[in-house]
Amino acid sequence: MPILDPNAIDFISRSPEQSRRMGMRLGAMLKIGDIVCLQGDLGAGKTTFVQGVAQGWGSLDPVSSPTFIIVNMYRRADKNQLFHLDTYRLESAPEAEMLDLDEMLAIGSLLIEWPERIESILPKERLWLKLEYIDEEHRRLKLTAKGKYYQNMINQLRKSAFGVS
Ligand SMILES: Nc1ncnc2c1ncn2[C@@H]1O[C@H](COP(=O)(O)OP(=O)(O)OP(=O)(O)O)[C@@H](O)[C@H]1O
Ligand SMILES: [Mg+2]
Repeated sequence: MPILDPNAIDFISRSPEQSRRMGMRLGAMLKIGDIVCLQGDLGAGKTTFVQGVAQGWGSLDPVSSPTFIIVNMYRRADKNQLFHLDTYRLESAPEAEMLDLDEMLAIGSLLIEWPERIESILPKERLWLKLEYIDEEHRRLKLTAKGKYYQNMINQLRKSAFGVS
């Protein structure tokens, strides 16, 4: 159950499926220009959540963890794009500066794993998901918003997921 902080969604996910389901609800809401940051240790569930987001968004392509490339791009029938950035393998700040986030946000939505590594180039307004390992099947998911637009998104998501406003 969510803790009743009006500015956040804070709940315990009990399974990968439950995390994916929450991701799906968010994915269905994403528009061009939206940015979602996913912070959490190795194995916290960032990519699992992204799988749900991509599904809810309507991706025709399966989600994979970017291994040698930094950004994956998913498509759907209307030609919109969903970018999935994993900065874990970025070596340096100059390398990060070469990422053109604005370019991606101009034509699609953007999900970022390890966003704290490129904090300096992130837009001020964004949705931020923090995932914490509790035990094998449990994760704490805390969603917070920077900016009114994303605050509104959290409110809609809360209604959709928990039926309360
Ligand atoms: N409640 C849960 N929510 C999400 N994942 C869970 C949960 N319980 C268990 N898991 C498992 O934890 C693992 C999470 O791996 P995932 O690749 O999503 O993590 P990640 O944060 O992307 O890690 P990395 O930093 O290595 O990319 C998966 O094997 C998933 O099945
Ligand atoms: Mg991952």
